[in-house]
Amino acid sequence: MKKNNAWWYDGIIYQIYPRSFADSNGDGFGDLVGITSRLDYLHELGVDAIWLSPFFPSPDADFGYDVSDYTDVDPRYGSLADFDQLLAAAHEKGIRVILDMVLNHTSDQHAWFMQSRLSRENPQRDWYIWQNPGPGGRVPNNWQASFGGSAWEFDPTSGQYYLHSFLKEQPDLNWRCPAVRQAILDVFRFWLERGVDGFRLDVFNAYFKDSQFRSNPPRFGLRVFDRQQHIHDLNQPEMIDLLQELRKLLDSYPDRYAVGETFITPTEKAMQYVGDDRLHAIFSFDFFESQLSFPWKPRWLMDRTIQRDKLFDKAGVQPTTVLGNHDQIRTASRYCKDGTDHQARIAMALLLTLRGTPYLYYGEEIGMRDIQLSRAEIMDPPGKKYWPVYKGRDGCRSPMQWSSELNAGFSRSKPWLKVHPDYPNRNVAGQQTDPDSMQNFTRKLIALRRAHAALRGDNFRLLPQREKSVIAFERKQDDEQILVYLNFSGASRTVTIETTGANQAAQILLTSGTRQGLNLTDSTISLQAYEVLILKV
Ligand code: GLC
Repeated sequence: MKKNNAWWYDGIIYQIYPRSFADSNGDGFGDLVGITSRLDYLHELGVDAIWLSPFFPSPDADFGYDVSDYTDVDPRYGSLADFDQLLAAAHEKGIRVILDMVLNHTSDQHAWFMQSRLSRENPQRDWYIWQNPGPGGRVPNNWQASFGGSAWEFDPTSGQYYLHSFLKEQPDLNWRCPAVRQAILDVFRFWLERGVDGFRLDVFNAYFKDSQFRSNPPRFGLRVFDRQQHIHDLNQPEMIDLLQELRKLLDSYPDRYAVGETFITPTEKAMQYVGDDRLHAIFSFDFFESQLSFPWKPRWLMDRTIQRDKLFDKAGVQPTTVLGNHDQIRTASRYCKDGTDHQARIAMALLLTLRGTPYLYYGEEIGMRDIQLSRAEIMDPPGKKYWPVYKGRDGCRSPMQWSSELNAGFSRSKPWLKVHPDYPNRNVAGQQTDPDSMQNFTRKLIALRRAHAALRGDNFRLLPQREKSVIAFERKQDDEQILVYLNFSGASRTVTIETTGANQAAQILLTSGTRQGLNLTDSTISLQAYEVLILKV
């Protein structure tokens, strides 16, 4: 595919969950000034951009993903002036800032919805999706809310139902209404004018719904929501035209970026949303599989990678690599079953040596684990609803572990969500001084990715191995050949080595093991237990 020189093409993007990152004023809740105070850390880590989960005013039915004002800062996070300072300070360090735009729905406390629900005649009535009851007062169709139950909520004041694809406190906007479209484009303009570098679009492929409100056909699945083919409440053709309009707006400013979170849609289908005249990127959640099973098998991972790259190549767009975010069990909790960080390091090595724009989730660089919560402590609505089958997403949202001080150095007061009890041993400050820590391992990987064009380029070749517990691949650009070996097993493993150059001297760019030098006169190398070995030949 066409190599693109834009910053986002090979930039490393770090996701911050603002309420859990750093608390500057001691109220137990992270804030924007806190983030600004940690920019040096992020700069030294080497990331190119930060993506901030929503910090807009919100009643927090869905922890900020229910916005009641798109052009302000929730006072708990600070003020617009704090945001401007954060943006300026980040830019000074060469760090770009990406905002999380939640535009499929607003909060039910948004002024637009408060107007809309007043009466059927209200001028803003059609800003949301209202329908008359079906026969006998029934819901208008079979659409389901992703967090459980019907997607329709009856509003007795006007005798109609409104649509909510998530919680009933998150009414869906009516994107077919021209005034809504204009109002939202103005929101983008507001932040673009302030200088933000990009946007993450939350569940964007749900914006439009079938204009005839047809019920979804059935299919096999566990929850009622999954027992439908979401052909009428997702992925409507009108989306393309909107993305084109948004892209035009973004392109009227230099170097702006938009990445979409495609909601329950196969990557193949989601590809239609990316391209030179639409989104720059979409997340590929190819490595998540499902909430219930996370296969962590070398062959499976490579099959997935190859499938993923093929799809992105076919569409001519740059892949993204995501191993964790605020909706998923943390990478280390998923893969490190033995209490060590071995598999987390392998995951980090994959994230930073595969093709595609890597997304790091805060704390992933120190191997943070999910916190365990009792039923009474659960805050996340789907967790409350589906406990104990599904415990919700609070686990991966715990405060950043900065130091071994009180509350992990996150806050002077009791944090809004509890800190992981392992913080005295696992924290940024402690890992900074340990050259072999996960954090320093991550830092080295990032530095390698920045230093070697081969690691950022589009070239990826699997080097098949007989050993099932090993992954080996080549990354290449011009004359530079880099070989990556990952040993997933706790025993040493012999791998074959294939170099194209006549020169058999190998430079060890990085090893998580203890080797001193390497002579490639043999055609095999013995990898140490769990070793990550990156060579330049
Ligand atoms: C996205 C967000 C998730 C949120 C949902 C509804 O999937 O990542 O956190 O709950 O959208 O806005």
